[in-house]
Amino acid sequence: MRTDTPQTIYRKDYTPPSYLVDTVELGFDLDPARTIVANRLSLRRNPASAQREIELHGEDIELVALRLNGRVLTGSDYRISGSLLTIPNAPEEATLEIESICAPQENTTLSGLYVSNGNFITQCEAEGFRRITYFPDRPDVMAKYTVMLRADKERYPVLLSNGNLVEEGDLGDGRHYALWEDPFKKPSYLFALVAARLVCQEETFRLADGRQALLQVWVEEGNLDKTDYAMQSLKHSIRWDEERYNLELDLDRFMIVATSDFNMGAMENKGLNIFNTKFVLANPRVATDIDFQGIEAVVAHEYFHNWTGNRVTCRDWFQLSLKEGLTVFRDQEFTADMIGTDSGRAVTRIDHVRTLRQAQFPEDAGPMAHPVRPDSFVEINNFYTVTVYEKGAEVVRMYQTLLGREGFRKGMDLYFERHDEQAVECDDFRRAMADANGRDLAQFERWYSQAGTPVVRFEGSYDKAGRTYELKLSQSCPPTPGQPKKLPFHIPVAVGLLDREGRDMRLRVNGRDMGTTAVLELVEAEQRFVFTDVSQAPVPSVLRNFSAPVILQGSYGDAELLHLFSHDSDAVNRWEAGQRLAMDRLLKLTEAAKLGALLSLDDTFIEAMRKMLVDERLDPAFREQALLLPSETMIAERIEDVDPLAVHTARQFVRAAIGTRLRAELTAQYEANQTPGAYSPDAVSSGKRALKNLALAYLNAAPDAETIALAQRQFDQADNMTDRSAALSTLIHAHEGDVPEALERFYDEFKGEALVVDKWFAMQASAPTTDVAKVRELMRHPAFTLRNPNRARSLVATFCAGNPVRFHAPDGSGYAFWAEQVVALDALNPQVASRLARAMDRWRRYAPELQGKMQVALHQVAGQAKLSNDVREVVSKALAN
Ligand code: TRP
Ligand code: ZN
Repeated sequence: MRTDTPQTIYRKDYTPPSYLVDTVELGFDLDPARTIVANRLSLRRNPASAQREIELHGEDIELVALRLNGRVLTGSDYRISGSLLTIPNAPEEATLEIESICAPQENTTLSGLYVSNGNFITQCEAEGFRRITYFPDRPDVMAKYTVMLRADKERYPVLLSNGNLVEEGDLGDGRHYALWEDPFKKPSYLFALVAARLVCQEETFRLADGRQALLQVWVEEGNLDKTDYAMQSLKHSIRWDEERYNLELDLDRFMIVATSDFNMGAMENKGLNIFNTKFVLANPRVATDIDFQGIEAVVAHEYFHNWTGNRVTCRDWFQLSLKEGLTVFRDQEFTADMIGTDSGRAVTRIDHVRTLRQAQFPEDAGPMAHPVRPDSFVEINNFYTVTVYEKGAEVVRMYQTLLGREGFRKGMDLYFERHDEQAVECDDFRRAMADANGRDLAQFERWYSQAGTPVVRFEGSYDKAGRTYELKLSQSCPPTPGQPKKLPFHIPVAVGLLDREGRDMRLRVNGRDMGTTAVLELVEAEQRFVFTDVSQAPVPSVLRNFSAPVILQGSYGDAELLHLFSHDSDAVNRWEAGQRLAMDRLLKLTEAAKLGALLSLDDTFIEAMRKMLVDERLDPAFREQALLLPSETMIAERIEDVDPLAVHTARQFVRAAIGTRLRAELTAQYEANQTPGAYSPDAVSSGKRALKNLALAYLNAAPDAETIALAQRQFDQADNMTDRSAALSTLIHAHEGDVPEALERFYDEFKGEALVVDKWFAMQASAPTTDVAKVRELMRHPAFTLRNPNRARSLVATFCAGNPVRFHAPDGSGYAFWAEQVVALDALNPQVASRLARAMDRWRRYAPELQGKMQVALHQVAGQAKLSNDVREVVSKALAN
């Protein structure tokens, strides 16, 4: 843990590396207590740099020896200051040999080389390689790697690293070795090794150019019954990238390794992707539909990085979204193509919109707000955010909306033509898109440089005599930390006009036929667009398919929203109309609940929900999305002086009203959407289960013996985890206070499955009946530990971020608990602690009594003498004015 004052790093201070590295030869003598690392680098002065010193990073490692061109360096030949080792007066070309020692077994940060369940695993992104050996650990230093691994044969039968296996053999003495070579230049953050006792599912796969590639999924013994879906997802991903972007696997083999101790979802190390078990292991018994979807998306995401991230990488960490935004966009498109149907695509698009509203808009409005390409940071690990990932993906999607699919593809082709095996900037990507299409995308740059969620307002007016419809669009963007004033963005606003019957009208703008959806380009603060030949007053459908990551405001009344909710051909806006109808009620009810007034819900709303619920022409997956209310977090984002109890009361009231007033319809849908026969995670079946389980939850929002029996029966009879866990969480919510017997039975049945035990903790942590005392009790459960990130998140983070009504208990007990856990976690794993710390981001929006108590808790953390840069950055930004 570093205790020196945290330094802010600025994008504008970028300088090129003083030396370039051509080759790296690494030798590992793996020992959990004391691993010896030998590193031989061939270095060459960078003509683009004026600097003459060799600069290497190193952290938490013991330097044993340093030799430059064969000469041993002594203390006076180099300087070590913090994590920087500098060798002045170095020659033009140099071979540098470095020997160092690290202690993987002591490494609880899960960054660098560490031990998980007795296996050696590495995690180098962003700056973990410096915890393995001294190296210019920055992404613009790309080199070719050769790696020799030596370890005990009995304990570590499997030795893996990046690229191709060159040689393996016995060393006598009970040890063995493996030599790996990666044919492609790569930055150090993509280095990986695994030395472990693991087994694999493997197969050879024919690539588009006829080559045979070896694909492997490595897991712990006993988990081979859970690797099929990951393997299948990998093959689909390889095929998709060949077909959609003409991008091929560039190695003879591609490996996925699952580990249960991991800070994030997965990591795209070249040829050796390392995954959190959560995104590999699945079968119907232990994994839900959502888990299967997550696996497919994350396997694809990491595989797609092989081109977007690995072959073309980032110049510096400010450019993180260059690879992450683009790769998220690619995995989103892959998911949509895998479903195939228009309605299925819309359902995945609705998921993106939900994520943005639930997590990214709040981030953009809070103390950690930053542009997609940040200008500064204290700790880069804090910038693997929904803004960089999900808003970054929206920014990439807007190119495709503006340029069309073909234009976007041309831009991608030019990007790879220009930048293969280079480390580049977000601006290079934008330039490739502009140049390939002969477009000026200068103003579009503001999506990278300005933080905050733009607000787009629309106002329509129909001129009956002139048969024209004028749409006035205006934009603004609230201030964010360090950015008081914003300039207009280049915003694609997709618009359709519905006639009285709900049909799309043919659109003409400036004499041009624009089909039934026009992509208007809003570039000024305010602009008017005139549609001509409009035969009747239309209802506008604005921001179709969520064409830009903005907040849309306009004067929609109930009648217009109901029209859109029943007819819009754009499924995203159809869903959106329902969300607006619901939000309008939820906000009013929250206000009423706060005043202790009587709550009531109008028939209009219930009737709209009823029609949607029973509309058999629509996919169950879509109906489920349309019936799901905005979350408590999304409601809270729309209010100042948030009273979480009032929000909860209002939302529960609406849920109970739907449950009782639509009881017959819900019961019928519950029966109609059963999925008998063998379980399959496909989109149609999972959509049915989603609607069925939502019906079950609504029926139990005002539970009685009959609805509880329904849930109990599902729990007892289900043959898959989706239905099992949905029934269990419904039972937990329906029972007020006492732990249902089902909970115990569930634990007994699955106590050997770590990922299911995580679900067991998470279900309890998020139940409104679980208070801090209950969470503390669960922390004393033998299966609980703070040391495993999945487990810590399942209970502690789920409670703090996913149980607002109990976390914000009026006595402040939730906040005290938060402070305590952030500090305890920080001593073990700063990255995980820092994510938990962010649960307080929006503290200034809460009711004054709560705010005061949240501030006390924040100060309690900030006042700790020993704190990681990660947590310090988050809490000090939260407290800053
Ligand atoms: N590059 C990884 C991804 O998006 C993210 C990641 C995995 C990561 N592990 C990490 C980022 C550790 C920071 C620290 O797929
Ligand atoms: Zn990624």
